[in-house]
Amino acid sequence: MSDLQGKILKILQNGGFHSGESLGCQLNVSRTAIWKQLQALEALGLEIESVKGVGYRLPDSFELLSKATILKHIAESHGHLPCELEIFQSIDSTNRYARERAEAEAISGAVVLAENQTAGRGRLGKTWVSPFAANLYMSIVWNFDQGAESLQGLSLAVGVGVRRTLVELGLQDVQLKWPNDIYIGGKKLGGILLEMIGDPNGRCTVIIGIGLNVAMPSLAGQEIDQAWTDLQTQSSSPISRNTLTAKLVVTLFLLLKDFQRVGFKAYRDEWEEADFLKNLPGTVRTVKEGISGVVLGVDDSGALRLALPNGEVQRFIGGELSLGPRL
Ligand code: BTN
Repeated sequence: MSDLQGKILKILQNGGFHSGESLGCQLNVSRTAIWKQLQALEALGLEIESVKGVGYRLPDSFELLSKATILKHIAESHGHLPCELEIFQSIDSTNRYARERAEAEAISGAVVLAENQTAGRGRLGKTWVSPFAANLYMSIVWNFDQGAESLQGLSLAVGVGVRRTLVELGLQDVQLKWPNDIYIGGKKLGGILLEMIGDPNGRCTVIIGIGLNVAMPSLAGQEIDQAWTDLQTQSSSPISRNTLTAKLVVTLFLLLKDFQRVGFKAYRDEWEEADFLKNLPGTVRTVKEGISGVVLGVDDSGALRLALPNGEVQRFIGGELSLGPRL
């Protein structure tokens, strides 16, 4: 984001209408220069209301991420929590950046946030729609020392942590869909993407990427290829992205500190209580095939358990699960 864009947003942040002329006067640039910058911000996915003869206005929910505010909230709720926080206005992917930094130096506990991602990564090679200043895009770097096997179910446990945070913020009926999607009312609210680097048999680093829809602009939402929802629609009170970030960091840091000792087993009951597809017909698609049955839940390692029509129970450690068909 350019310096001028930052200044325009600062003026618009009070929620009122501002004409191009008054913005230009305050910032000592032409109306055309203002218009161009607003267009550039819209291209990043920011929803700007424009009323002819009146001016421009930002959505009521607009709030930029602030490092000082997030750290203050963290300190208030948890005293001292060592956490290195970086916020980008725009980046290709917070996971890509966090991963490259973690490859170069030891940064366990680093948190990377962005207002906008130009190439946000979703699971299975999909793009994560990441418009400017609308949602939460966060990556956490965490070191583990007992190899990949001790991390089975970690992404599901992170889902439990995200759900706990949302429940604490007053959200109801937050559900989890195997392996690591967050759902409300049958629609996707967010997702988790884990990437691992280092020695699968020993010391390794995990990049935990979390995307949560907070106030998805309708135009950007049209790019999503499945039913989706956002916190603004689901919550009875406004959700501050700064508060949400701080609460997530505190909850997830505590969970990550414990995970290797307790494993997914400690989160399994909570995960199953929130299982979106439990006892429903489901199909798991792997690279090779699609297998249908009834979703039974997960085991202690986070593997999905599916009851097949022949009475057998099959375990899955990877794949894409969807609802139906009823057999
Ligand atoms: C999914 O497909 O459900 C997982 C989505 C994960 C998206 C987040 S947004 C922050 C982080 N950076 C990325 O590029 N992806 C993850």
